[in-house]
This record gives sequence, structure tokens and C-alpha cells, in this order.
Amino acid sequence: MSSETLTDTSAAPVPAAELTGFPRLDGDRPARVVVVGAGGMGSWWAREIVESEVAELVGVADLVEGAPERVIAQSGAADPGAVAVGTDGVDLALAVEADLLVDPTVPVAHHPVTVKALHAGIPVLGEKPVTETLPEAISLLAHAELTGVPFMVSQSRRFFRQVRQLRSFVAAHGPTVMTSAFFSLFTEMEGYRRTQRHPLLRDMGIHAFDTARYILDADPVAVTAVGARPEWSVYHHDATVSATFEMSDGSLFAYHGTWNARGLPTWWNSEWRIGAQHGSATWDGTGVPVLGTADEEETARLQAAVEAETAPEPDQIAASLVECVSALREGRTPMCEIHENLLSFAMVEAAVAAVDGGGRVEIDELLEQARLEAITAEADEDAREIMRSWSSVREALATGA
Ligand SMILES: NC(=O)c1ccc[n+]([C@@H]2O[C@H](COP(=O)([O-])OP(=O)(O)OC[C@H]3O[C@@H](n4cnc5c(N)ncnc54)[C@H](O)[C@@H]3O)[C@@H](O)[C@H]2O)c1
Repeated sequence: MSSETLTDTSAAPVPAAELTGFPRLDGDRPARVVVVGAGGMGSWWAREIVESEVAELVGVADLVEGAPERVIAQSGAADPGAVAVGTDGVDLALAVEADLLVDPTVPVAHHPVTVKALHAGIPVLGEKPVTETLPEAISLLAHAELTGVPFMVSQSRRFFRQVRQLRSFVAAHGPTVMTSAFFSLFTEMEGYRRTQRHPLLRDMGIHAFDTARYILDADPVAVTAVGARPEWSVYHHDATVSATFEMSDGSLFAYHGTWNARGLPTWWNSEWRIGAQHGSATWDGTGVPVLGTADEEETARLQAAVEAETAPEPDQIAASLVECVSALREGRTPMCEIHENLLSFAMVEAAVAAVDGGGRVEIDELLEQARLEAITAEADEDAREIMRSWSSVREALATGA
């Protein structure tokens, strides 16, 4: 699949008729993948791509000299010298005729890298959070519509068997009334998170928020939140936050997260309790979920069914990669495509606004404010027109999805 055949950027400003209208990737060969961002996560992506049956690593780019070579050296690639290196991920992807750009750069780079890739006709599988700011995320929504090129956000923690099991349980026993996710893991991470504003919400909250939307099959309406920064925290901003979301199914979703407490760590997935009209479930974030209903026999049957599911399956970024490549092959919209993903990030930014300003923050108000900011900041006239044409961001998400 050459980059030229994927999109015709001169066709703007009419939004692409459908996001699934792009040429398919041949199913009989692995997708050629370039990784941009050769840091911690880029190293993991490179290893997964090399190991994967659906993809091959053809290039790695980073602004830092020597970083791509280090990532390639630890990737397990059979012939490291055959993997191209560069500083600009999109230029490199075009040069090596890649089918897909995987983008684990720092969040501030997600917007410029993705815009350039989409306009070059290269599908993007980007790391969470989708962008650094909500206006940037809304801008990417417009660029995805403008180009018709697929843009999926990798929400790796959605891809666990247990998350899928909890979603099925809720579908059969809902509606939910109260869900909680408790995350507590002492970390003193180096790098951009030290000075980032609200690093816990932006780095970890996003995982639980996206998982909650998927399990509940509900979207956020409003949030109240408070943050704390104990004097021993190495982070410049709050890495301890408590947030309560009102969800579209009328339920409450409470998130409590901290990087500041030592001892008794939860798993990275958080600990969950889900309370619904016809049953409840708990999950420690790693084992088999524990299910409960008012009927003992039904409970035993359901529990036995989830415990019987033991066949190995890809999870986390390996599963995310399979989903993305499968969608490219089948010519369909991938799960976690930007239209589906944006509300998970809006939950983060709404919680941030609630911590900063106090009080209850309505998601739709925040989205509309962000849309106006995105229109003002947008450099591309066609993308600006698309954002102006939406009656609301919520409506654009529903139509695009
Ligand atoms: N899914 C997960 O479980 C998970 C875990 C960790 C990090 N992440 C996400 O992965 C992303 C990267 O995190 P990290 O911990 O690897 O960060 P990092 O700082 O270790 O690596 C980021 C790399 O991107 C490079 N970079 C920045 N701008 C660039 C640009 N324009 N072009 C090319 N390279 C550029 C930097 O030089 C750096 O090497 C973040 O979005 C983070 O949220 C996801």
C-alpha cells in the first residue's frame, strides 16, 4: 500500500465520507511498521512488533541521536542493520513505505506527529493519552475526518480478558449504580512526568477511565475531583487524586489513585468493584474477576465460566497491535479510533479542571470550550472548517463513530 493511494489531501475540506473507506492492507503479509519515539515505551513496542506475527519492524525514529539504534538493539530483530533509523518518524515511514506509524513519543509530540502522518496518508497507532491537551485532541479528530486516514489510540489496559468478562457481566446484570477503581503504586518516575501538571490523572487515570467506559458501556457526564501533593512526593504536581464521575447510565464511577503511598501496591490495572442492579463484581486487577448475583446457582455457573477461560491470548499492546492491523486488513474502523477514544481523554481533562477550579465540571461544556480553543489554534483552514461545522463535539463523536 503506497502512501499516495491512501488519501488525497487536495479533496479537503469535505470530511472523508467514512473512516473505513481506505484501501485495505494485504492480509498475506505482516504490516510494515515504523516506531517514532525511542524511549521506554518505544522499546516495548519494538519488541512486541518484532515478536508479532501481524507486523514487522522496518524503522525507528527519535530526535535523540543514538536512541533508535539502542531500541533496535534490544528489540530482538533478526537483522538489526535492516531496520532503518531517522529523526522524523513520518519522513522515515514514507521513505521505507511503511503501512503504519506507531507513536510512543511524549504526549506534547502526539499532535504534530499525528497531523503530519495523517496528511501523508499513513495510519497511526498512537500511545495514550491521545494528546497533551483537549483542544489538540479535538483538532486530531478533525484531521482524521479530513484525511480519512485511520488513527487509533492504544489504550493497552482495555485489552485484558478480565475487562472483556466484566463488560459481558455488566451487559447481562446492569445497569450499574456504583463502580470504583482504586490505584495505589509507589513510583518515583524520572522524565517528563516529574514536572507535568496532574501526572497521575494524565498518565494513569486515562487507563482506568477508558476501562470504566468500556466495562460500563457508558460515557461521562460530569465530574468532581480533588488532588493532594504530600511533601515527600517527587512530582511537582498532584500524584494523588480522588474523582467521582456521573455517567450516562445514571451511575457513579469513583476513581482513587496515588503514586505516593508505600506498601500494599495494587496492580497497574487498579482494584475494581462494580455494583449493578442484578449483580456485583470485584477484580484485583490481575486474577479472575469474582462475580456475584442474588442467586447462588447462577453465581456458581457464571464464576465457573470465567474461570474456564484459560486459553492464551494477546493482551496489552500486543492485542492493540493485532486490533489495529486486523482493522487495516479488513478495511474497518479499529476499536479505540479517535472518535471512540476522545471521551476517555475528556474524563482526564475534566478531572484536571475540577481539581484546578473546584466544583462540578460538565463534560459537554468542557468539550465546547475546547472546540473553540481548537478552532482558534488550528493552523489548517480545512480542519478549522470541519470543527466549525459540528453542532457539538458530542455529536461529531457520535456521527464519526
Ligand atoms: N500503555 C502503557 O502502559 C504506557 C506505559 C508507559 C508510557 N506510555 C505512553 O507512551 C508515551 C511515551 O512514554 P515513555 O515513558 O516511553 O516516554 P520517554 O520519555 O521514555 O520516551 C519518549 C521518546 O520520544 C522522543 N520524542 C519526543 N518528541 C519526538 C518527536 N517529535 N519525534 C521523535 N521522537 C520524539 C523522546 O526523545 C523520547 O526518546 C507516552 O504517551 C506515555 O503515556 C504508555
